[in-house]
Amino acid sequence: MSHDLFLAAKAAMAKAYAPYSKFPVGAALRTGDGRVFAGANIEVASYPEGWCAETTALGHYVMAGGGKITEIAVVAERMARCTPCGGCRQRLAEFTQPETRLYLCDETGVVETVTMGEMLPYGFRGDMLK
Ligand code: THU
Repeated sequence: MSHDLFLAAKAAMAKAYAPYSKFPVGAALRTGDGRVFAGANIEVASYPEGWCAETTALGHYVMAGGGKITEIAVVAERMARCTPCGGCRQRLAEFTQPETRLYLCDETGVVETVTMGEMLPYGFRGDMLK
């Protein structure tokens, strides 16, 4: 992957609103046609109402028209290789393929590359509803 996706995730992390956990997270995804959408976690005083960086990025992506997602980067200020939570794995799986690459980062760049299939094996998918 190119370093720019990590940089987009890191720049998004700087915009995190995480006054309660003090655990800023940034996520960025790239589409097949080269667009990049990024997001940060946004917390709320009623804690369960906050949401994750991955979810913010997906919101930007959907509102811009969606498309094929080719790669995703996640970075957290206080943790190397922060992996998406269970809910975000399910949300990311909605718009990706099992082979879509997910880059786990530290503050300097990519530390580990995994696939969505590895992140969410045996996941529930929309085609099961047909
Ligand atoms: N968080 C994310 O934004 N993404 C992750 O992948 C893991 C956790 C956020 C949620 C909450 O604002 C904070 O990190 C601590 O759980």
